[in-house]
Amino acid sequence: MKAISETIGRQLAHRSVREFTDRAVPEEVLGALFEVMNRTATSTGLQSYSVIRVTDAGQRRRVAEVCGQEYVARATELFIFVADAYRNGAIARAKGYDGEEIRDMDRFFQGFTDAALAAQNLTNAVESLGMGAVYFGSILNDSRAIIEILGLPKHTFPVVGVGFGYPAQEPQLKPRMPISVKVFENRYELPEDFEETVAAYDEEMRGYYDTRANGRRSDSFSDQLVARLENTIDNRAKMLRVVREQGFELGV
Ligand SMILES: Cc1cc2nc3c(=O)[nH]c(=O)nc-3n(C[C@H](O)[C@H](O)[C@H](O)COP(=O)(O)O)c2cc1C
Repeated sequence: MKAISETIGRQLAHRSVREFTDRAVPEEVLGALFEVMNRTATSTGLQSYSVIRVTDAGQRRRVAEVCGQEYVARATELFIFVADAYRNGAIARAKGYDGEEIRDMDRFFQGFTDAALAAQNLTNAVESLGMGAVYFGSILNDSRAIIEILGLPKHTFPVVGVGFGYPAQEPQLKPRMPISVKVFENRYELPEDFEETVAAYDEEMRGYYDTRANGRRSDSFSDQLVARLENTIDNRAKMLRVVREQGFELGV
């Protein structure tokens, strides 16, 4: 695919980077990245997310243990994005508001979306500077532990981590399912050649060498999918329990 702008060129070259050089991210670069995050679109303007920059070696180790991925601790920068209804609760209470809406599911999902968008805006900015980044959804392997490690108050919830820095590896582009099975016009409708398309994609995925698996060739997408489903982490499947412990009202 031909890039029609510099930004699109970089976006089309995206691949997760999991190993970084020793080069530090300069303070002024970090400052610019914080500003980019802060400028991200935000649901109803309420900015219901926060970011924890984890610099403490002990805390990084503990986060990496939760993730079950030791490279989490090695990332030059490690940011954890958090859905945050706590700060706005404090602001509203100072105005005399004493309702319960600050902890409803709308607030929770607003915060979750805001946090995810800010994380991707950060990632785009990071990649525009010749650095690399990777998400860590694995922080949710034990959200209760992450809440404890980061001292997250009630009415907050961890969403995703981002590790970034100057790349020490150049992974292959990971194949994606074609647009024809993902983008529809007006109504959801998988194409008639869906099965053949998946079979072709499975074949393409088998040609992908996964840096994460020491450069081993990948299984087909379908096999990866089933393996993932069969290895679901109970803690993650039952995450709403922790959401409730954090004071959010499921409202069901
Ligand atoms: C929400 C989210 C969570 C992810 N969690 C992890 C993670 O915990 N560890 C990891 O190494 N990669 C993680 N990734 C990276 C994906 O594995 C990666 O984006 C995907 O395999 C596609 O590869 P690519 O980014 O190189 O194109 C995550 C990505 C997303 C969007």
